[in-house]
Amino acid sequence: MAVQTKPIPRGKSRADAEHPSGDPRFSLIDRTLKRFQYQQDALIEVLHTAQEAFGFLSDDLLVYVAHQLKLPQSWVYGVATFYHFFTLKPQGQHNCIVCMGTACYVKRAAEIVAAVQHEYGIEAGETTADGQLSLSTARCLGSCGLAPVLVLDGEVLPRETPESTLQRVKERLASVTNGSGRAQQAEANG
Ligand code: FES
Repeated sequence: MAVQTKPIPRGKSRADAEHPSGDPRFSLIDRTLKRFQYQQDALIEVLHTAQEAFGFLSDDLLVYVAHQLKLPQSWVYGVATFYHFFTLKPQGQHNCIVCMGTACYVKRAAEIVAAVQHEYGIEAGETTADGQLSLSTARCLGSCGLAPVLVLDGEVLPRETPESTLQRVKERLASVTNGSGRAQQAEANG
């Protein structure tokens, strides 16, 4: 998949040039690229920025990052798929991550996952057909003393049960009627 680029205007750096798509979110990626002076070992930082700006790492984004850092696309794809905190699929408006590390697992984390799967008809790693809810699992989130841990829309919630998680998710889904939180966040980020 080729990335189309247009000539950079005289007096402008690579990061100053407008992305050909016209999508202003690319400027966030470009700023990170510039901050790290296009160094290839900044790949994870750049991917983080891309995911924060777009919500997930699409093929186009991976190609763009590879192109900008002059890295093989296969390398960038490999890094993006290796780390569990990167996602290559569009995420729902709400994001439910259940920790399945050892401490959480022994405290019924698998039952939490099963309850959400059953209630919303999705597997871990999937998003509901209406785009409202994504469910995923993580390895240890570093808060084992709070097990089992749930991260709902970025909020870390301790000592969850299947019942409490279902209630929280239900409330969260019911509360969103004012457009996409992700879109609002992207707007706020400029
Ligand atoms: S195992 Fe879940 S936070 Fe460590």
